Amino acid sequence: MENQITLRSLGNSEIKITPIGLGCWQFSKRGNVAGKFWPLLEDELILDIIRISLEGGINWFDTAEIYGKGASEKMLAKSLTTLGKTPGDVLIATKWWPMFRRASNIIKTIDERLACLSPFPIDLYQVHQPYGFSSEVKEMEAMAKLLQSNKIKNIGVSNFSASKMRSAWETLQKSGINLLSNQVQYSLLKRKIETNGVLDTAKELGITIIAYSPLAQGLVTGKFHDNPELLKNIGFRKYSSMFKPKGLEKSKPVIDLVKKLAIKYESTPSQVALNWLIHFHGDTFVAIPGATKSSHAEENTGAMKFRLSSNDMRLLDEVSSGFKK
Ligand SMILES: NC(=O)c1ccc[n+]([C@@H]2O[C@H](COP(=O)([O-])OP(=O)(O)OC[C@H]3O[C@@H](n4cnc5c(N)ncnc54)[C@H](OP(=O)(O)O)[C@@H]3O)[C@@H](O)[C@H]2O)c1
Repeated sequence: MENQITLRSLGNSEIKITPIGLGCWQFSKRGNVAGKFWPLLEDELILDIIRISLEGGINWFDTAEIYGKGASEKMLAKSLTTLGKTPGDVLIATKWWPMFRRASNIIKTIDERLACLSPFPIDLYQVHQPYGFSSEVKEMEAMAKLLQSNKIKNIGVSNFSASKMRSAWETLQKSGINLLSNQVQYSLLKRKIETNGVLDTAKELGITIIAYSPLAQGLVTGKFHDNPELLKNIGFRKYSSMFKPKGLEKSKPVIDLVKKLAIKYESTPSQVALNWLIHFHGDTFVAIPGATKSSHAEENTGAMKFRLSSNDMRLLDEVSSGFKK
């Protein structure tokens, strides 16, 4: 067991983050359509999840405007304050929602974001999706203005293709700014970025990949394979092909190996899956698992405290290689 958590750089910056951060979509309070993806979590439970994550060593949190229209950002700031944290103690990443908006909206709405997160600053401001009314060039120019006026500290993107990520990077370079991260879906069961150019480009440009849904929304833990009864209560996840009978059958060999390795390492399936993710490609990846229970936070942070052998990582790579397409 390694007890020391080795921090890694966020892109080409001085910022040091833990390989695992906490995803905060689950704290949306069902405030809007995106927020209805997860059940309503009470304030006390959210506080506990954040407390356990901090105790487990996590030093950063990922939230977004769209997670309950600011509800998640507010719950995060309120909980951190209750736990005695002050600006500078932790790092916060949040995201601007681009749909049906122009780049000018980035500047127009920044004070709302800062108010929701008050007193904490925005350490990383990300464009949530590549589907705004403006180009990524205009969006990055707006982001650069926020950075130059000290409203935000760093810039990232999310769900960007290799070419859009490169274009965002080039735009910021003209102002002497580094694009630090691209937040994309990645897990043992979703490995597309390894074949569509995103990972190669991120490595070339020194951009960190922030892996979202790193547990394939709970699927990789094997709990749904072990207890199909749980599938009756999975909310919007029921529309995903991964959670349908064929999808479950396809992922079974991966789950079986993850479970076998969990026994070998006296850990849990979620820890094995996360450990693979944060080590297999070196330091390029960090992960932001979400949690709806305190026990999830405890387990998931524990993934930073051991290391799978190279051979076991290779076995996981092989068994999940069909998910690169
Ligand atoms: N940029 C984007 O477009 C984007 C998209 C999605 C997510 N995100 C970010 O990424 C974060 C994580 O992604 P995600 O929430 O989609 O997926 P995830 O982290 O893969 O899965 C989280 C869910 O899995 C279950 N779970 C977590 N830990 C567990 C454990 N140890 N054992 C058993 N079940 C466990 C919980 O759901 P149940 O208890 O209900 O099963 C939890 O809500 C989000 O919070 C958000 O910050 C970003």
